[in-house]
Amino acid sequence: MHKKIRIGALISGGGTNLQAIIDSCESGKIDGEIVFVGTDNPDASGLERAKNHGINTFTVDYSSIIQSLKKEPEKIAPPKDFDIDDLYAKQSLFSDDADPEKVKFFMVSRAIAEAKLLEEMAPYPFDLLMLAGFMRTLSPYFIDRVNKEADHPRIMNIHPALLPSFPGTDGYSDTFRYGCKVGGCTVHFIDYGEDSGPIIGQKAFQIQPDDTIATIKKKGLELEWELYPECIQLFAQGRLKIVNRSYPTKDGKKIQRRIVDIV
Ligand code: GAR
Repeated sequence: MHKKIRIGALISGGGTNLQAIIDSCESGKIDGEIVFVGTDNPDASGLERAKNHGINTFTVDYSSIIQSLKKEPEKIAPPKDFDIDDLYAKQSLFSDDADPEKVKFFMVSRAIAEAKLLEEMAPYPFDLLMLAGFMRTLSPYFIDRVNKEADHPRIMNIHPALLPSFPGTDGYSDTFRYGCKVGGCTVHFIDYGEDSGPIIGQKAFQIQPDDTIATIKKKGLELEWELYPECIQLFAQGRLKIVNRSYPTKDGKKIQRRIVDIV
């Protein structure tokens, strides 16, 4: 058996993926153990799942932090190690023509909430941070403080669509409303963009004429519960390697891409 990895989890809702990972750790399908479950949402019912298994939990209430910063902007105090120019240079969430005030507020308010998250996580050393239905975008402030080495990303996410199609918060509905005949889910490492990091695994299902948003969400979630444990076990076995690939394009140029090799 491999040495067990320590897994931290962030959730926002019901936590069915969290449950699948807890069960997989307990059954030995994943060589790992969950060391904490954090949330941005005080009402996340998935916290109960963690408590039922004796896992430490914490909440950083993003909504109330953002509301209070909006109400009293003079009280905005970013973390001491916050460097907004560094974040502007790294982020790819906003385009160059986005409202600068909006971008600034996003970066500052996120860093304030993320510094609290990092503080709550600090007592629990971890090897992998998994996002399991965590509905807040992480800024470079947080990502750089978790990913210490560029070629060893350690924040994983599960997304309800076949990326790079349909990034964002409502992947299955977006897939359905587009009229796709196939839908699916993706596990990937997080980078500075929206659902744009290197892909680890994907599973797909057929969309039939009598499907609805509800039925495709059900089909998708059932695949997520298989895919996420498989990808986490690959990480636990040290089988995920980031490689830089160069691909020729039609017009004779080259594009560089960071991808995951399963070794
Ligand atoms: C899952 O479908 C997951 O793919 C999605 O939220 C749901 C969480 O369900 N995640 C995202 O949309 C992330 N942007 P769960 O709380 O039952 O695991």
